Amino acid sequence: MSGAGTSRIEGKIALITGAASGIGLATSQMMAAQGGSIILTDINNETGEAAAKAINSCGGSATFKNHDVTSENDWLSVINYAETLHGRIDILVNNAGVGTMGSIEETTLDQWRAIHSVNSEGPFLGCKYGLTLMKKNRTGGSIINVSSVAGIIGAPNLAAYCSSKASVRLLTKSVALHCARKGYGIRCNSVHPSYTNTPMVDEMVESHRSPERYKSALESASPMGRLGDVDDIAASILYLASDDAKFTTGSEIVVDGGLTAT
Ligand SMILES: NC(=O)c1ccc[n+]([C@@H]2O[C@H](COP(=O)([O-])OP(=O)(O)OC[C@H]3O[C@@H](n4cnc5c(N)ncnc54)[C@H](O)[C@@H]3O)[C@@H](O)[C@H]2O)c1
Repeated sequence: MSGAGTSRIEGKIALITGAASGIGLATSQMMAAQGGSIILTDINNETGEAAAKAINSCGGSATFKNHDVTSENDWLSVINYAETLHGRIDILVNNAGVGTMGSIEETTLDQWRAIHSVNSEGPFLGCKYGLTLMKKNRTGGSIINVSSVAGIIGAPNLAAYCSSKASVRLLTKSVALHCARKGYGIRCNSVHPSYTNTPMVDEMVESHRSPERYKSALESASPMGRLGDVDDIAASILYLASDDAKFTTGSEIVVDGGLTAT
């Protein structure tokens, strides 16, 4: 095992979606610090470009590309961009996601479709088009799909979100088995965070009628008594991206402070 050094993905090219904020941003920074060249993509150009610039100014290697993960054309152009820039990708992190609260009775068809378009179709398109470039390497690769504990256990007020994240979990296993059968040397795994301190959760908390009470209820629901930090999740993504996980595919890492163990 290479352990906790500073070159766990030295020389590898990583494409990370939703990289302008939260978990995607932390993963980009951590992977750059571990020797990777990062292509950050997001719909938010301003923060995405600033994030890439900040990585470069700390001695890392990063570029930003505008990319809506719901658009097939955007995927084609991002893959083309990566091939032109680096000739390959070794790591793909399908991280971009959105959350909307609502029970089955409250959720509209438009909300359902909007969530699935980003959270479910995004990773589908990512795996599909990411593979076309990754398999040209002939040196293998690693795809990491960011799902959620809500893709494993239900929550009454997250009907569409739970469904979209559960789809990512099984898409991951199907892609992993396909790649293994084809002998591509490409691994595909999912990561399942519980509530994590990011703008997505801040927004959810702020929109609650009693934000402080709600935040402390979320914290005390966790056996470890706190929300996740972005680096807790990024570390698992980095592990799956690295050669330390070379025999791990079709698997899921739950990063939830024990929540799903209860
Ligand atoms: N924060 C949590 O508690 C938590 C828990 C479990 C899973 N997750 C998952 O982790 C991932 C990252 O979430 P986060 O909490 O860091 O959220 P975040 O809101 O901080 O960041 C999400 C990023 O995705 C981008 N994005 C949104 N729609 C997009 C689109 N169509 N195309 C490209 N980019 C788009 C946003 O601009 C943003 O930069 C998501 O898939 C989310 O569902 C988060």
